[in-house]
Amino acid sequence: MLFENFDLEEQGTTVILRINRPKALNALNGKVLKEFSGILDELNRRKDIRAVVLTGAGEKAFIAGADIAEMSGMSQILALEFARLGQTVTQKLECLNVPVIAAVNGYALGGGCEIAISCDFILASTTAVFGQPEVSLGLITGFGGAVRLADFVGWPLARELIYTGRRVDAIEALRIGLVNRVVEPARLLDEALVVAESIGSNSPQAVRKVKAVMTKVRSEAVLAAKLDLEARAFSTVFTTFDQREGTKAFLEKRKAQFKGE
Ligand code: CAA
Repeated sequence: MLFENFDLEEQGTTVILRINRPKALNALNGKVLKEFSGILDELNRRKDIRAVVLTGAGEKAFIAGADIAEMSGMSQILALEFARLGQTVTQKLECLNVPVIAAVNGYALGGGCEIAISCDFILASTTAVFGQPEVSLGLITGFGGAVRLADFVGWPLARELIYTGRRVDAIEALRIGLVNRVVEPARLLDEALVVAESIGSNSPQAVRKVKAVMTKVRSEAVLAAKLDLEARAFSTVFTTFDQREGTKAFLEKRKAQFKGE
């Protein structure tokens, strides 16, 4: 099947899903998110697959975030819809019937990092760079970063990373538990496929069941309320001068001059 912004490849019982939007370093706009959501529904219906490897096309980026150009002109109402759409995708990833391995091959910033942390675990290339830089754009996390990052790195570090927006390279990501291992870029996909095959060699029903249990015990009870809180807070920043200034400054390739209003 052909997709506009994704490539889908199969190796045995593993699906390799690549986000492929090179002109914007695989950034996620509304159209990409809708396509993503539809693909995940399709994958969830498949009984013959045992794992999914999610990666980015090209050498530079996994996903460079939500699309800043699209967010720049958004109203509060559209921003709420956008956050909910992104959260639909992250929830579908988290709850997919089979394990999803993020193979992070470059920048995983903002929404890109939020997609990675919705996968079951992350393998990274030495070139991977993670971060939640939203506050440097006058924005906040909107696809579940404020809710899920602490599951990977703990609350104090999640707070630091989200409040400062600083980037984390692959070595630090390994040290803080954000990724399970780091490999050379040329080995990343092979490494992810080996892990996927190892999962696939087990009982498929047993893997699906235990993933469902681990997803539910971690999150289900209060996750929806937490995500709703984040989506609403995300949309309210779209009434501010700083949101317009921060996103405009990125597009104009200059430093933002925030006013706190
Ligand atoms: N949205 C839209 N376009 C993006 C983008 C994004 N998130 N990231 C990169 N691009 C575009 C650039 O605008 C540029 O386009 P042009 O060639 O038309 O100018 C192209 O991709 C290549 O990018 P750069 O020239 O900037 O490449 P670089 O190598 O110099 O820098 C980078 C790479 C560090 C990833 C830099 O592009 C960058 O900082 N991108 C933004 C990262 C970011 O802040 N992401 C978070 C967005 S907010 C968010 O995601 C909100 C949320 O939680 C829902």
